[in-house]
Amino acid sequence: MRVLLAGGAGYIGTHTAIALLEAGHEPVLLDDLSNTSDVVTDRIAEITGTRVPLITGDAADDEVVESAFDAHGPFDAIIHFAALKAVGESVAKPLEYYANNLDTTYALLRVGLARGIRSFVFSSTGTVYSDPADLPFTEEATRNLVELSNPYSKSKLMNEVALTDIQAVNPEVNVTLLRYFNPVGAHASGLVGEDPKGIPNNLMPFVARVAVGALPEIGIFGDDYDTPDGTGLRDYIHVVDLAEGHVAALEKAQPGLASYNLGTGNPVSVRGLIESFERAVGHELPKSVKPRRAGDLAATYCSPEKAERELGWKATRTIDDMTASVWNWQQKNPSGYAG
Ligand code: UFG
Repeated sequence: MRVLLAGGAGYIGTHTAIALLEAGHEPVLLDDLSNTSDVVTDRIAEITGTRVPLITGDAADDEVVESAFDAHGPFDAIIHFAALKAVGESVAKPLEYYANNLDTTYALLRVGLARGIRSFVFSSTGTVYSDPADLPFTEEATRNLVELSNPYSKSKLMNEVALTDIQAVNPEVNVTLLRYFNPVGAHASGLVGEDPKGIPNNLMPFVARVAVGALPEIGIFGDDYDTPDGTGLRDYIHVVDLAEGHVAALEKAQPGLASYNLGTGNPVSVRGLIESFERAVGHELPKSVKPRRAGDLAATYCSPEKAERELGWKATRTIDDMTASVWNWQQKNPSGYAG
């Protein structure tokens, strides 16, 4: 299959491009490079032996998307990863988040449907689920837009609603909503991985920066939650498992609308993740308990059974695989793609 990956040079996009190439597909990347580097195409070539085309531009601009189809189409499918994704920033910049995260979808669909795509795979999030009473979250768990705590999550759920209505009047097209839990990890080669700009907001890249000595200590945001060790529980999923989930979703796509949780179903605490990272590094890391972070839930984790049943896909990599791969990537690329 020939597949356009909007936001394809980003963290999840690059790993998905590699998984698609390994499965015999032909990915083409479209990315504005606002949060990544064109170095990724060199790295993908080093890993797979294939240089994937990269169109640099804004996926919210119909002309840019048209140019991608003109130069590299026709495409069988679009995978839409292009989005702003920082929860805290979205609270401060709601207009930017709603505009970017929705306009990209509209432009990709306007052009993609006119040009005959058969499938549209959308990067959604496990944070669309709003009621902790539903844990572990199945695909049917409560999704209440007004109860979501931030514009990032709301923009993803608004996309899901728009995509549902658009698919209904394009019944020959497949729309697949993939709800990611907490993607972490890096490719086994250590050549591609997560490269957040500035001080990372998320736990795994923060711990990795502490491990290489670029940051002084890990802050544990609350140890008084109602969880086994008092710290927050998350469903961390190895980005390579996640990438393989996209390949499975594309290969199994049928006309209609489908949604899948992509997670492991195994909750891991903040302390559990840090301990796993310490095993990878071989020594303890400096850490201290800080107040809870505003907006955080005690626990989020999914039931991934629907994806296993319908897509034949299951995450296989453990938390120790995830932390070891991040440590490998961080050591080989202490300044990310910049050095
Ligand atoms: N945490 C710390 N210290 C840190 C950073 C995080 O203790 O320095 C804790 C948090 O309190 C939470 C857990 O680590 O309990 C995970 O936090 P992350 O920021 O890594 O991840 P979140 O679950 O908050 O959110 C992430 C992404 C979202 C995405 C969501 C689900 O930031 O974009 O996963 O996919 F929507």
